[in-house]
Amino acid sequence: MSDWPGADRRRPVSTSPTWTVRKPLAEWLQRQAVEAARDYGRYRVLDVGSGIKPYYPFFEPFADEFVGVDPSPQADLQGTVEALPVEDASFDLVLCTQVLEHCDDPARAVSELRRVVRPGGRVLASTHGVYPYHPAPVDYWRWTHTGLDRLFRENADWSSVAVHPGSGTTACIGMLIGHFIDLLCKRAHLRPLGRPLVAGINLAADAIDRAVPALRDPLPGSLTANYHVEAIA
Ligand SMILES: C[S@@+](CC[C@H](N)C(=O)[O-])C[C@H]1O[C@@H](n2cnc3c(N)ncnc32)[C@H](O)[C@@H]1O
Repeated sequence: MSDWPGADRRRPVSTSPTWTVRKPLAEWLQRQAVEAARDYGRYRVLDVGSGIKPYYPFFEPFADEFVGVDPSPQADLQGTVEALPVEDASFDLVLCTQVLEHCDDPARAVSELRRVVRPGGRVLASTHGVYPYHPAPVDYWRWTHTGLDRLFRENADWSSVAVHPGSGTTACIGMLIGHFIDLLCKRAHLRPLGRPLVAGINLAADAIDRAVPALRDPLPGSLTANYHVEAIA
């Protein structure tokens, strides 16, 4: 499994400007894979907007089935989050990582995620708060934690919805500076030179957020690069 595509997402390097988003996301999904096995035994996973299914190795030890859906013709099933080509209540766990910001209709997407998860099953979604424009192939939306909570609660019935920041305010500012440095270095054809600087900023920002708990909470004035949503059907 170590050669499965997407190692940069499962084991992100601190020299990358995306580290602040990918590291907490990978850690959260790894924990969730184990928790789902504790709660459900062996389970079925639908990965919506799967791309290359980068997180499959986290779930593979526990999942009887792991199906990817994506508009791409390379996907296991070709389709969109707004019209999932699967039966109602047919999966125990539904992943939708870094997709909602790219889809046409997030309200319809949430309603579809709920339709395909079985009662008691869970949807694990992640999407951006503050992040540079990155079309894949389009880039439409950003959220606050309260906006994401409302999006989920207003568009489906859940027994619970929890929205958590993936990282803190300093990490978000560091991520933006890291992207800017990376962009400048790329334009100057000096990208490798920027990498140690990006790593230093990422690690220092993370240490500051760890030292000051209030910087990790979604409070007035806070900035959040990415949110993790756990919605139980
Ligand atoms: C940033 S990538 C994320 C891929 C993967 N989920 C991950 O976390 O690495 C966004 C993915 O969403 C897919 N996508 C874009 N619009 C979509 C839609 N309306 N429904 C489902 N997937 C969509 C893209 O094809 C792409 O694979």
